Amino acid sequence: MEVKLFFGSSTGNTAKCAKAIAAKLGNVAAVVDIRKASIDDFDFVDGYIIGLSTVDEGLLQEDWRRFWDDIDDVDFTDKPVAIFGLGDQVKYAKWFVDAIGIVYDKVTEKGAKVVGAWPTDGYTFENSAGVRGGKFMGLALDEDNQSDQTEGRIAKWCDIIRPSFS
Ligand SMILES: Cc1cc2nc3c(=O)[nH]c(=O)nc-3n(C[C@H](O)[C@H](O)[C@H](O)COP(=O)(O)O)c2cc1C
Repeated sequence: MEVKLFFGSSTGNTAKCAKAIAAKLGNVAAVVDIRKASIDDFDFVDGYIIGLSTVDEGLLQEDWRRFWDDIDDVDFTDKPVAIFGLGDQVKYAKWFVDAIGIVYDKVTEKGAKVVGAWPTDGYTFENSAGVRGGKFMGLALDEDNQSDQTEGRIAKWCDIIRPSFS
């Protein structure tokens, strides 16, 4: 299975986590910075891992915004998609990792099979558009307040999603 990881990162946190996830998962063919990507990079992919931060109080990371309408042309039908999102649960408690939810809505609308739901235990926040039915619809990472937990969370999450990407 051809698996690609696409990430957008404003200050480098998501980029760092993207590389760690690809290394841990094992069979990722390419790690693509969405800032330098073209929509053709989404072709001939069997499984997608999508990573991004939430910025500006509940908005998509900037590079993903530029790309957002083009994503409508990607055929995600029945393909596995795993989402990870970076955020700050202290400063932005009302919008914590909202972008996970924005991506979730987009790809499910396009027929994707989203994998890697993640429990909210261990986080403190007021609201998140990334939560559905009591779980984050992807891995939530907080490099601003809980960077010591990132490595462990990535390892655990990769074990959860790996069977869907092999
Ligand atoms: C202006 C600004 C707005 C932000 N807004 C949010 C937000 O609404 N929700 C959230 O969870 N994090 C928010 N953050 C925190 C970032 O998502 C967090 O610092 C993240 O690690 C940045 O990752 P990146 O360097 O990959 O872009 C915001 C950060 C900045 C600087």
